[in-house]
Amino acid sequence: MKTEIYSLLDENAGRAIEKAAEYICAGELVGIPTETVYGLAGSALFAEAAGKIYAAKGRPGDNPLIVHVAEPADAENIAHTTPLYYALAEKYMPGPLTIILSKKDVIPDTVSGGLQTVAIRCPAHPAARELIRVSGHPIAAPSANSSGKPSPTTAAHVYEDLQGKIPLILDGGPCSIGVESTVIALEPDDNGCVILRPGAVTEDMLAAVCGSVRVAEAVTDPGKAGDKPQSPGMKYKHYSPRCQVILIKAPDAAAYAAYVKAHGTGHYGVLAAEEESAQFSTGTVLSLGRADDEAEHARRLFALLRQADQRGYETLYARLPADHGIALAYYNRIIRAAGGEIVEI
Ligand code: TXA
Ligand code: MG
Repeated sequence: MKTEIYSLLDENAGRAIEKAAEYICAGELVGIPTETVYGLAGSALFAEAAGKIYAAKGRPGDNPLIVHVAEPADAENIAHTTPLYYALAEKYMPGPLTIILSKKDVIPDTVSGGLQTVAIRCPAHPAARELIRVSGHPIAAPSANSSGKPSPTTAAHVYEDLQGKIPLILDGGPCSIGVESTVIALEPDDNGCVILRPGAVTEDMLAAVCGSVRVAEAVTDPGKAGDKPQSPGMKYKHYSPRCQVILIKAPDAAAYAAYVKAHGTGHYGVLAAEEESAQFSTGTVLSLGRADDEAEHARRLFALLRQADQRGYETLYARLPADHGIALAYYNRIIRAAGGEIVEI
């Protein structure tokens, strides 16, 4: 199959979305931009489209898909909503928040990975919402990477992983957030929520609406996921470039640089902040942006993991970030990329 790329950044954007909608209605898949990462979109109403998504990604069938809706209230058609769902939606939807609800029968078991729940997200990206509206289908869309690889934040990343497997990719330019949505489950009787995957809607932002917010242990410790975690995605190896990622817990940038200098051998790269790069006299620094701009670090991470492979590094050094705010999203991805290991110095 030939994979075409249509731009959403010129006057043909409307036509591109119509073409994508035709594919969705016909049970085919399309790579689409969202504000978080690119998604591999198919109709959430067709079991067959979900089957194609799992096959194209090489994804295990028990890892459920997120269903995207154009308006928070559209969740009514596919799930059992609660007052807390609407309170959160009021504040953070459309946006990078995914809420797990109990599902209605229209959602095939293949979409929900056999679970009785469904993950609902109303994306903020205008083209993603327009595609849902024009197609008239809720859209199942995991990140549009090959399973296990870093998530795609540009159309070129999607092409790299899925060329020949899908007919169309919509190119909306680089994603503005760059890490996937925050995934939460609501506690029984709407008594707060639990973060299963951290993202740009942070613990503090959720607490402002929910009162009590828990962060699942597996978020910072992949070893705690177990065989039947609350979110199946927790147990899979994720976000891994081919090179080995070595994650360092260092008290400051100088200690991190000294460790890399003492241990770095062969062809290796270093993830570090812009103003810290001069401290690394060996290895090549892949800049995360300014040290105090944690949202920028998260935005760049996946593209830098891919760049590390393009440059053929054997090893990529990274430093463990803070474990709150948007930094928790970076923490969660980098610890998985490092296979769960932390080197403490
Ligand atoms: O930002 C995002 O959420 C992107 C864009 C494309 O919207 N999508 C995305 O989907 O990251 P995916 O499939 O790569 O990640 C979905 C995560 C997985 O870890 C999955 O296990 C979890 O959400 N999940 C989905 N449905 C669930 C459910 N019913 N219960 C628990 N976890 C669920
Ligand atoms: Mg994913």
